[in-house]
Amino acid sequence: MKVICFKNHTELSVFAASAIALAIKNKPSLTLCMASGETPALTCDLLVKNLTEEQVDYSKITFLGLDEWVGLPPENEGSCQYFFRKKIFEPLQLKASQYFLFNALAEDLNAECLKMDALIAEKGGIDIMLVGIGMNGHIGFNEPGTSFTSISHVAALDEITKTVGQKYFTQQTALTRGITVGLGHLLNANKVLLLANGSKKAGVIKAAVEGPVTEIFPASIMQQHTNGFVLIDEEAGSLLDKSKLS
Ligand code: GLP
Repeated sequence: MKVICFKNHTELSVFAASAIALAIKNKPSLTLCMASGETPALTCDLLVKNLTEEQVDYSKITFLGLDEWVGLPPENEGSCQYFFRKKIFEPLQLKASQYFLFNALAEDLNAECLKMDALIAEKGGIDIMLVGIGMNGHIGFNEPGTSFTSISHVAALDEITKTVGQKYFTQQTALTRGITVGLGHLLNANKVLLLANGSKKAGVIKAAVEGPVTEIFPASIMQQHTNGFVLIDEEAGSLLDKSKLS
């Protein structure tokens, strides 16, 4: 794992978007798994800009949505599906066959997990995974206590996740469960970018990067990834031991 600190969220997002665009140029059939949320929002915009301006052929990529709130319809503006539709699929005009998102309304959620796992296997694993970090150290909806070998699964949400998650919704929304790609997939991914910005993430970044590697704090898994990059801005890195920064 490497930790790279940028001046601000914009510089961090420029770096992440360029890294993904370059990876698509090098491997047009890239499998990309991404988180939604505030942190990667600018990266998504810049990725669309890069791919379009540089006329990169992205017609063969496969896009996987990292997670979703169980029970939310896709038209809910706080859903991950809504985010990806507006930020990636519509601007890039991706074909429906190029992306897979968990159907959070499915009667059989386990079947959704199996579909995701089968797709990841069919693609030979995830090439690039771009994730964020929750205020309890979660990645996707891999909540504290999730096994580092987990595959796609449904999770009961932690109280912190239910509370912090309200920021995505215009009105109070009942959040109980999430469906997510597992940490085992993250460990097996060729490259992982974990992004964090802002002073509110400083504590969880310190725990992820300098704390013990433990399933109690899921993001500490990054320390075990040989091609893992923690991309932070100065505020998110403000509590770190500076000698460990790249
Ligand atoms: C959410 C999602 C994660 C996301 C994280 C951080 O609950 N389940 O996939 O990465 O929390 O979100 P944000 O970037 O909005 O801080």
